[in-house]
Amino acid sequence: MNQILTPTGAAGPSTPALLKVLAGQSLAKPPIWFMRQAGRYLPEYRALRATAPDFISFCLDPEKAAEATLQPMRRFAFSAAIVFADILLIPGALGQDVRFEVGEGPKLGTLPPLETMRDQIEASTGRLSAVGETLSRVRAALEPERALIGFAGAPWTVATYMIEGGSSDRTGARTYAYTHPEALDGLIDILVEATAFYLIMQAKAGAQVLKLFESWAENLPEDLFERLVIGPHMRIIEKVRAAGIDAPFIGFPKGAGTLVANYVAKVPVQAVAMDVQASAAFGRQLQQTTAIQGALDPLLLRAGGAALDRRVEEMLVQWGGGPYIFNLGHGILPDTPISHVEQVLARVVGS
Ligand code: CP3
Repeated sequence: MNQILTPTGAAGPSTPALLKVLAGQSLAKPPIWFMRQAGRYLPEYRALRATAPDFISFCLDPEKAAEATLQPMRRFAFSAAIVFADILLIPGALGQDVRFEVGEGPKLGTLPPLETMRDQIEASTGRLSAVGETLSRVRAALEPERALIGFAGAPWTVATYMIEGGSSDRTGARTYAYTHPEALDGLIDILVEATAFYLIMQAKAGAQVLKLFESWAENLPEDLFERLVIGPHMRIIEKVRAAGIDAPFIGFPKGAGTLVANYVAKVPVQAVAMDVQASAAFGRQLQQTTAIQGALDPLLLRAGGAALDRRVEEMLVQWGGGPYIFNLGHGILPDTPISHVEQVLARVVGS
């Protein structure tokens, strides 16, 4: 078991359930939170979002970002808050132009030369100090029983946006891995360093758990998965530990299929987040060495009804006997009815 006992993870009446599970415990009622739990399915989020000139300024306004982080915590009995920010703040902080066009998703400008970005690594974390300020505000406002999660996009996933200039099928970035291996490895190295600094800053500001979002780990052959996912995740965690940070890590190699077993064997994460394809048996196998998180289908959460109740029960039975964090297999969809979130919480938390 990849156990880490942090001061906050030590046994005590107000130890967050999430930290207990990340220290290897199995709980009768698993902790629960949802990816993208702050977001457009909440009317109060849409109202707050309308007060910001654009999405990046919203993320970098500590007062607004703290409010967005806390909105789902007021409404629901989630066990953890995740800081309101975005994985594409790092490319912006390294000097690439990043914009979010309404209804179109992210748009990134030309990739700056590697040397230019390399010179910006240390300064990039300073440019994101607003995220630290958001974390401090949220930690001060949140009950001690509820954990606070910081996060970053993992290097490969962030690199796909930087190379392709926005959301894509990633074939351009994967081709680049073959045609420009040195340039891609150079970019990944820059992202490893910048991400490590950024996560260290987040932990110092109050993040008790750190999550690496590798949202585009799918469709990578084993050698590329090793080179672009496993290696960079290991180097980030090593750098964070070398800075004296012992906050547990959740890794999310989304879409990696059976390669998740290689990931867990090599990357010292305290939990692996599973996507919707995770089988009952594979999850239990992973639980032999690590805690698992997931993996309710966001489409089923949106659909609701008796099928949703049945699936929640099934997940609790198949994984609840080991270290388990209840979550979705990917982010909540903007048109998800709030009553469906309440329906799941009633089953998992019993409130
Ligand atoms: O509540 C939370 O989970 C915390 C906040 C959070 C956001 N993005 C806010 C957000 C987190 C953890 C992310 C991670 C993120 N961002 C990922 C990894 C997770 C995943 O979903 O796979 C990725 C790939 C991104 C990049 C990104 N951000 C895209 C592609 C988009 C546009 C698509 C969309 O959903 O609109 C965003 C925008 C974004 N990030 C929104 C939110 C709430 C919606 C924009 C808005 O409210 O105007």
